[in-house]
Amino acid sequence: MSRLYLTTPIYYVNSMPHVGHAHTTVMADVMKRMALMRGTDVFLTTGTDEHGQKNYEAAQKSGLSTMDYLDKQSGLFQSLFDALGIGYDMYVRTTRPYHMERVQEVERRLKDKGMLTQKPYRGLYCVGCEQFKKKSDLDDHGRCADHLTVPEEMDEVNWFFKIEPYREWLIGYIKSHPEWIQPEQFKNEVLELLRAPLEDMCISRPKSRVKLGVDMPFDSNYVTYVWFDALINYIANIKWPDEMYKEWWPSSAHLIGKDIVKTHCIFWPIMLKALDIEPPHRFWVHGYWVASGGQKMAKSLGNGVDPFEVINLAGADALRFYLAKNMRKGGDSQISVPMIISTYNSELANKIGNLLSRVVKFTARQFDGKVPDVADKLHADDLKLVQATAETAAREYRETSLYTIPSLVQSAIGIAESLNAYVDTSAPWALIKQPENHDRVASIVYALMDSTRLLLEMLYPVIPTTSKRGLEVLGASPIPSQPLVHDFAPLRLKGGALLGQDTALFPRVESEEASVT
Ligand code: MSP
Repeated sequence: MSRLYLTTPIYYVNSMPHVGHAHTTVMADVMKRMALMRGTDVFLTTGTDEHGQKNYEAAQKSGLSTMDYLDKQSGLFQSLFDALGIGYDMYVRTTRPYHMERVQEVERRLKDKGMLTQKPYRGLYCVGCEQFKKKSDLDDHGRCADHLTVPEEMDEVNWFFKIEPYREWLIGYIKSHPEWIQPEQFKNEVLELLRAPLEDMCISRPKSRVKLGVDMPFDSNYVTYVWFDALINYIANIKWPDEMYKEWWPSSAHLIGKDIVKTHCIFWPIMLKALDIEPPHRFWVHGYWVASGGQKMAKSLGNGVDPFEVINLAGADALRFYLAKNMRKGGDSQISVPMIISTYNSELANKIGNLLSRVVKFTARQFDGKVPDVADKLHADDLKLVQATAETAAREYRETSLYTIPSLVQSAIGIAESLNAYVDTSAPWALIKQPENHDRVASIVYALMDSTRLLLEMLYPVIPTTSKRGLEVLGASPIPSQPLVHDFAPLRLKGGALLGQDTALFPRVESEEASVT
């Protein structure tokens, strides 16, 4: 059986989980469900990155003990992912012994190979990025472009890992694996960064300054640099160097935002190479969500999107649907609560929810609430409708990646539109008035229901909770949570099945917030 080991970044716990964190983890969950429906076994990890200076400073400010603070914050992320219906197979916490032991094992091995050296270093450190910056990385005011803060001057003795000797190898690897970093613009960005020699990677922090981190196993004065520690989660999760790692690592795919391309596509493969481990199989990079109008989301501007608020207002699937539909490949995309609600009302409530409810209610009245038993004698036009729906759904599953998700959603909307149009033009409520039309109406109704089933199955990875409810209403089988090829075959809906009444899948949301200005 084919496998997919899917990872998201592990998120810093110094701030509240926001819609950007929700995005990467929701996309990973959508991809997991799509892969399962293509018969691929999946192991999905997400979680929190709990060491380093900025987490420590936030814990200090909170008034809680460091561990209580980390537990509380990590719990918040986990509760968001649970509320969003994420089927993670493991929730990562870097403060857990299984992880820390493996970080130390990596360090021991690199030290034994003579790859680590100690030396004084002077540099500019951005706590927001948890990275040293070069002067050329800063704006005209000497600030980090991402955090708009002036980095701190550091002058201290640390442990270093020489990465320059791997630069040529990495360039060659990227060139000979053109699909490795997707989309291409980020591959080019990495190649551009690799034109200049790589500075040694500083992998420690003196305990006198940074208290929160994995102890360096061979020098008790230091903890491990947070990025070095965090990246190792990707192999620690699958129990490197044990059997599980051997089974899953060859299929590894890292989903990341564009802000962490350098650490993932340069530092990480080099760390692995030094350990004689193959690079991850794939990087899928996505752009940023920005506020409507294109501004960066910021608490101070009040234009952020609180995922918990959206879930309370319209449900987890409303947010999942918006994220899946609207992230442009490689670029940034706009989001706001009114935009999410307006998409929810116009696509989910008016098109998909309305379709299910019209068809089911009509059948309840005219066919005793049962699916008409006519699959083997459909009118040619009705058969064509179901076949076209099945073909479109199957096409969207032929090849899947992070970047096929918006097209899956668009196709599903297209299907819902044509099914609604079919209801309007075939006008079963008018036909039924003549008793001789009974069989034709039964055929129309069956075709619409079976097509709606296919539509809900197709959208299952994006809106799993409501899709499952809709399938139940139609008396259709649920999508299994095990890997099993889903064939999108027409005429699967069982004639005579009793229809459910839970048809209000997407009640319209009338919210003051929801008026798009
Ligand atoms: N802890 C590191 C990652 C270590 S992985 C070994 C980190 N954490 S973070 O909390 O800053 O999360 C960054 C990630 O969150 C981005 O790469 C992206 O996946 C997601 N996003 C954060 N803000 C985002 C947007 N505004 N839009 C889309 N995704 C964004 O970096």
